[in-house]
Amino acid sequence: MSKVLGIGIAGLGTVGTGFLKQLKGLKAKSTRSANIKVIKIAVKSIKKKRDLPIKQLPLTSNTLSLAEDDSIDVVVELIGGSKGIAYNLVKRSLKNKKHVITANKALMAMHGNELAKIAEKNNVSLNYEAAIAGGIPIVKAVRENLRFNKIKKIYGILNGTCNYILTKMDRNLGDFKDVLSDAQKKGFAELDPTFDIEGIDAAHKITLLSCLAFDVPISFSSTYIEGISKIDTKDFKYASEFGYVIKLLAVSSKVSNKVEQRVHPCFVKQASDIAKVENELNAVIVEDNVIGKNMFQGPGAGAGPTGASVMSDLMEIVRGTINFPLGSSIDAKKKITFQKIENLSFPYYVRIVGQDRAGVMAKISRALSKKGISIKSIIQKPSNKTKYAEIILITHKVKESSLKVALNQIKRLPEVAASAKFIRIEDSL
Ligand code: HSE
Repeated sequence: MSKVLGIGIAGLGTVGTGFLKQLKGLKAKSTRSANIKVIKIAVKSIKKKRDLPIKQLPLTSNTLSLAEDDSIDVVVELIGGSKGIAYNLVKRSLKNKKHVITANKALMAMHGNELAKIAEKNNVSLNYEAAIAGGIPIVKAVRENLRFNKIKKIYGILNGTCNYILTKMDRNLGDFKDVLSDAQKKGFAELDPTFDIEGIDAAHKITLLSCLAFDVPISFSSTYIEGISKIDTKDFKYASEFGYVIKLLAVSSKVSNKVEQRVHPCFVKQASDIAKVENELNAVIVEDNVIGKNMFQGPGAGAGPTGASVMSDLMEIVRGTINFPLGSSIDAKKKITFQKIENLSFPYYVRIVGQDRAGVMAKISRALSKKGISIKSIIQKPSNKTKYAEIILITHKVKESSLKVALNQIKRLPEVAASAKFIRIEDSL
């Protein structure tokens, strides 16, 4: 490569810093790709002190100027957010025939169809390996390596903050607030942590993986989302009594020509592979008809891992490879129906607080059996202080809409104190 490849970087936070350090290392190694030049780095504050082994950075506060600069061939967007400056920068850069690399899952989940179309039209790359599961090379694996196998299911742990919180709570190492603040200090929580704990971040990621795995358009609004903020410490204890741990799973699968996309807390067996993915680690499991099961595990955030994914996207551009951003042409994507969560069936964990006296259990059982719900296991935890007891059930597999009707009836029983809590069980993992 003799021509200089001009790079413009927007954002110098955790990912930008990690990427820049690796880029410096790469240049020092003087590989065949050493003709890369950082032309501009757009930042919010030029005066801010930065921990970088580079003395003079070509800083600018004019972010959108990257899209207009003729000496820039590749724009690396590391600002974040689905709207505003990140969206404008990426769109304008693609329109001006620049390759784009982004770590922005929100942007891709909300506007990926539109942006991919512009990239396709202008024959430039739109690479986003760092947007999903940080250092795990899952975009390239699904988009390129596994592309010709028939994928049946793709699922995993796609949010390190939630996995960290759930792991610590499971071990009784702190309550929700303390553990979240710990995750924020460690730098893997989002700027707005509700995106992590309410499942939105994981939903952005599974929506993108679903598009790649099943060749459907990106459809974030079709993803069912439920976070971890309503899980009680008691649920961990009961999960363990039944041989489970609680994980926030992101799942997409295709059954009878319908695609499901969902993020919610799940009971998974203590002995399963996914249960052993702990703390801030991420994991993605791909099931297909040729290989069977592939499990990828690694860090989902942080300067090093995410910077490495940005670097791998850059190397793809250096090699001259331009892929369809979404695996196939956006116009060739299949029109498909997305499955609603109410139509899916699971075994469930249900926790009900009811009066501890004769006949209550019979009424609860009646409401369940009216909807064809069969109980697999049951335990009752009486309270020493009140006349209420906690009834914990594991059901056999039942359609979600039926469970909700039954729980609504149970809620209306005068002997029942509050709405029942339920968590889906992923028994097949
Ligand atoms: N906030 C994300 C997480 C990291 O906790 O996994 C970047 O996607």
